[in-house]
Amino acid sequence: MKKGLLITVEGPDGAGKTSVLQEILPLLNTLLAGQLVTSREPGGVVIAEAIREVILDLNHSAMDAKTELLLYIAARRQHMVEKVKPALEQGQCVIMDRFIDSSVAYQGYGRGLDIEAIQWLNHYATDGRLPDLTLYFDVSSDIGLSRISQNGQREVNRLDLEQLELHQQVRAGYQALAKAYPERIVTIDASQDFESVVADTVQVLRPFLAKHQGEES
Ligand code: TYD
Repeated sequence: MKKGLLITVEGPDGAGKTSVLQEILPLLNTLLAGQLVTSREPGGVVIAEAIREVILDLNHSAMDAKTELLLYIAARRQHMVEKVKPALEQGQCVIMDRFIDSSVAYQGYGRGLDIEAIQWLNHYATDGRLPDLTLYFDVSSDIGLSRISQNGQREVNRLDLEQLELHQQVRAGYQALAKAYPERIVTIDASQDFESVVADTVQVLRPFLAKHQGEES
């Protein structure tokens, strides 16, 4: 690959996207032979991980919604400049756990902030680089929330304390995005059992990577 590929993985809390990514990592490493970079938002580089700590700190319940949005955007910018852009310029495939759509779904649909302003900020932070493919893990709020409460190992953060309504709004946001950008966003039914979600994910990724590697070699 010469140009580099940006693939993002999105979904409401409890969709299982992080576990699925973990599960398919060996396969991705094989398919992408030395060309794979994985990362996450907020975080991925030292400065963005420090911003993540500020956002997710349980003691910061007084945080204003716009402050929160701007911190996510600041973390995104730093991560983009330090890690994502250089990797893409070297022709690597960057797979990211959360990206621009999280801001629209969580801060826009979830917190009710202006969607157009968020999209402008996303564009500003990324210099307009969109993902080549986004896997959206769609899960009902009942299943998503019950998975979070069952998973005692998972880090409990301030955002997990939010109610069912927020989860539903976030899901509605993702569904609206998937409808608005069908050429970029592929929906995976993450309410299924883990093996089926993994199988569906591989079924989307394998031909996508084969096509792009073929085009650019
Ligand atoms: P994390 O523990 O990484 O959750 P997950 O494993 O589900 O990704 O916490 C990230 C949280 O940050 C998650 O609740 C979604 C939220 N988030 C936003 O609200 N806006 C954003 O722009 C991003 C990147 C994340």
